Amino acid sequence: MAVAFLSYTKYIRLLRCMQNSSILYETSKRSIMTTRPRLEKVLEDLQKNPFFDKYAQKIAKLQQTSPEEFLDRVSEKERKIKEEKGKVPAAVRPSTQSTRSFLTALWKYNHFHREICRSYSTSASEYKYVTTPIFYVNNVPHIGHLYTAALADTIARFNSMLGHKTILTTGTDEHGTKVQRAAELNKLPTKEYCDKISLSFKNMCDTFHVEYSDFIRTTEVRHREAVHHFWNRLSERGHIYSGKYSGWYCVADEAFLSDADITEKKNNKGETMKVSLESGHPVEWAEEDNFKFRLSAFQDDLKHWLKDENVVRPEKFHKMLSQWVEDGEIFKDLSISRPLSRVSWGITTPGDDSQSIYVWLDALINYLTVLGYPNENFRQFWPPSVQVIGKDILKFHGVYWPAFLIAAGLEPPKTLVCHSHWTVEGEKMSKSNTNVVSPFDAATQYSPEGVRYFLLRESVPHKDSNFSENTVQLILNADLADNLGNLVRRCTSNLINSEKEIPNPKLFADVLKSEQALKVKENLEFLKATAEKNYKSFNVHHVVDAVMTTLHSANQMFDYHKPWALRKLTSDLEAEKELKAVISLTLETVRVSALILHPVIPKLTSDLLDFLQVPQENRTWEDTSPAYLETSPSENRNYTKDCIFFEKIRDAKK
Ligand code: ME8
Ligand code: MG
Repeated sequence: MAVAFLSYTKYIRLLRCMQNSSILYETSKRSIMTTRPRLEKVLEDLQKNPFFDKYAQKIAKLQQTSPEEFLDRVSEKERKIKEEKGKVPAAVRPSTQSTRSFLTALWKYNHFHREICRSYSTSASEYKYVTTPIFYVNNVPHIGHLYTAALADTIARFNSMLGHKTILTTGTDEHGTKVQRAAELNKLPTKEYCDKISLSFKNMCDTFHVEYSDFIRTTEVRHREAVHHFWNRLSERGHIYSGKYSGWYCVADEAFLSDADITEKKNNKGETMKVSLESGHPVEWAEEDNFKFRLSAFQDDLKHWLKDENVVRPEKFHKMLSQWVEDGEIFKDLSISRPLSRVSWGITTPGDDSQSIYVWLDALINYLTVLGYPNENFRQFWPPSVQVIGKDILKFHGVYWPAFLIAAGLEPPKTLVCHSHWTVEGEKMSKSNTNVVSPFDAATQYSPEGVRYFLLRESVPHKDSNFSENTVQLILNADLADNLGNLVRRCTSNLINSEKEIPNPKLFADVLKSEQALKVKENLEFLKATAEKNYKSFNVHHVVDAVMTTLHSANQMFDYHKPWALRKLTSDLEAEKELKAVISLTLETVRVSALILHPVIPKLTSDLLDFLQVPQENRTWEDTSPAYLETSPSENRNYTKDCIFFEKIRDAKK
């Protein structure tokens, strides 16, 4: 009878573990009864953790002594977390991975999970760490690279607007055979070549307002130190052994491949060659001594990590990765070094300078280096909130990366956002195709903000998108020049608004009764929620769609009320009121639209918000609610400067 409550489904699994010991059973029965409500809450939280199954038995054991002690520990943890809020979060010490630190890890996970959920509703500030992949310096940037960076920047900017302490990092991946060969081909010393190309990626970020907190280069000393430290952690924990590799190596992808990953293809000269099945890039046979990582031991951990489908977005890529992990083929031990005689452009392994560290292990660690790792402060932003990657590097980020991290005693990323690729006029971008689009050339043609807008508006994460000169011109003219630009131009023209007034939306809130005006208001009132939902699910194109629909309705409302005709009825007070109401609702639509589009086109919208005299402190996500719904009315304002509009594109390159 005393155990009636044990039938709660959420206890079943835990209690099954407990029932393995009769002493445990008796002790728990007593204690759980006295502390039941609290324990219920704690267990409920712990069960949401994807690693719960794995540690359920250990948690049960921990409670063996006394559930009260278990709860005391939880309280203590809670107190510490409160104390440390705003400082470094509770650390998971990998070296003393006792039962207690499993609890710490689980608790920390749940704590952050809850905090984040809460912060969405109350805007409480959180630490958010957003990353782009680091770019190979074998070649200059193209629009695919820009897209990756701009998407990450958009996500970071949205999080900043929500009030989170957000950092965005990017950089260049400079070691390995691929880069070494590119430097030789360009007849430049390797370092000099890296400096040159790395700078072009930095310029790309600066040109397109990708606001990084740090730009990491893997040839920096701080990175070598981080990589050595990480390697030593893996080694101390028994995850590295010396072995041999015999198999294929694809230099273009810097990937070790098995027979099953290979196919044959004819080259331009009609010769048959072996290529990677996935990328179509040529492979070479390799037989060498190297160090290996026990990847085979991490299949279960990855299954646990993937239980939460939010760890990989969109769903398509979560499914794809889960399938690989389930199949298990991928979990062969992985070579993580190569003989220096073959790859001299790399970081040598600690304690053995005849080997250089596999470029993917080296590259992935950049995400730790930028946080100051191994300095403990890195934990403030760990684990990464959002890591943006392209579909071609899902295996490296979705299998190797979480396995390396778990092996080193660190939490895997919270979310990988995986996107598809850009084609150009329907074809894959490639140098041999000579169809590679340079972001700098595109910026000359369409302006940096225009290119950013097009890339983020036109792409969907789950399938490839196409860059075509005609579509770019059509979309930019229709959306930025006409729908947005003309709307501002129309109600700030001398004819309609000679006083240069920004009438307070609150004062004119109920003047317009037309169907068209009501439609604008309805769109405006839903816009914040719609945009928020879509930013949070990384569907930026839907955010843009919703804004464009709202702007479109404002244009229709403007046409319907014919403010140019109202203007002529100067002695009619009603007409004047209606005119001001039209200007007010239009400019309010522009203000809200500019704020919501800010993460997508930061410069253009900042200019607009400056023009509308919106103070910096009123540019947060909270400010995207229509002002006429606010309680505190403010004065009418006047603009003093001219507005800079998006120029219509007249002659696209043929
Ligand atoms: O993979 N469309 O670097 P990378 C969209 N150094 N995105 C594209 C694309 C296209 N056509 N082509 C490439 C690397 N990308 C590694 C990363 S991270 C620890 C190391 C994307 O310069 C690609 O998917 O080859 C990737 O996300 C990014 O550009 C960098 O590619
Ligand atoms: Mg690539």
